Amino acid sequence: EMVSVIIAAAGQGKRMGRGMNKVLIPLLGKPVLAHTVMAASAGQNVDNVIVTAAPEEMEVVVNLLTGLNLSVSWQVVAGGSERQHSIANALAAVPDSTEIIVVHDGARPLVEQTLFDQAIAMARQYRAAIVAVPVKNTIKSADDAGWVTGTPDRRMLWAVQTPQAFEARLLRSAYEQAAHDGYLGTDDAALVERLGAKVKIVPGSYRNLKITTPEDIIIAETLLAHRQEATDD
Ligand code: CTP
Ligand code: MG
Repeated sequence: EMVSVIIAAAGQGKRMGRGMNKVLIPLLGKPVLAHTVMAASAGQNVDNVIVTAAPEEMEVVVNLLTGLNLSVSWQVVAGGSERQHSIANALAAVPDSTEIIVVHDGARPLVEQTLFDQAIAMARQYRAAIVAVPVKNTIKSADDAGWVTGTPDRRMLWAVQTPQAFEARLLRSAYEQAAHDGYLGTDDAALVERLGAKVKIVPGSYRNLKITTPEDIIIAETLLAHRQEATDD
């Protein structure tokens, strides 16, 4: 049962406001993407890693991955203008022999290997599994003028993360259907849900944050330092 992991790293990091791709920003001296790829390729479950990079960053990303001396096979493919297009390009490079495809954000460097293991195991059982955490805040909906329109029951709400793992055939059909319909989703599971397939939630970790805005760098470095302290004796 071959498993391929797609790591999306072809964004621009606009909300970070540094004028560079946030996955190349160092966290405790190592680029965000290096932390992410190390976590994703650790363990026995993953055979193959495909990283999407912006066309002008292919070389820097290849050099970064070469320096990691990974024990799994890997390749870098050019991303597209939207995350979904980047993943679609990566899907075309996933070997036909792959049975499980895992999609993960390059910008989630604090992910732990156990989340990959659990998502993969659940995808084998249920065809589609996504990591998510219960929302901590009360969420309201509002209209364009800023008037509250409703308060959904928080007990039913989950903040979705990656990894998201799928049976390869299911994810490929979902991407084909989305392309055919011109549908752009905000996560991979949304494409699979459109096919009517059921998606199982794997309870995740609040530490698995996505590096998005400047304060996330400070939080991520603190969490990483804390983790290193806990493993040093
Ligand atoms: N991503 C990608 N291709 C794109 C856009 C995003 O591979 N065309 C990747 C990013 O590199 C990131 C992940 O998808 O690791 C999640 O996207 P997001 O957090 O939105 O990152 P950016 O698009 O880079 O950030 P921003 O939206 O602030 O510009
Ligand atoms: Mg984005």
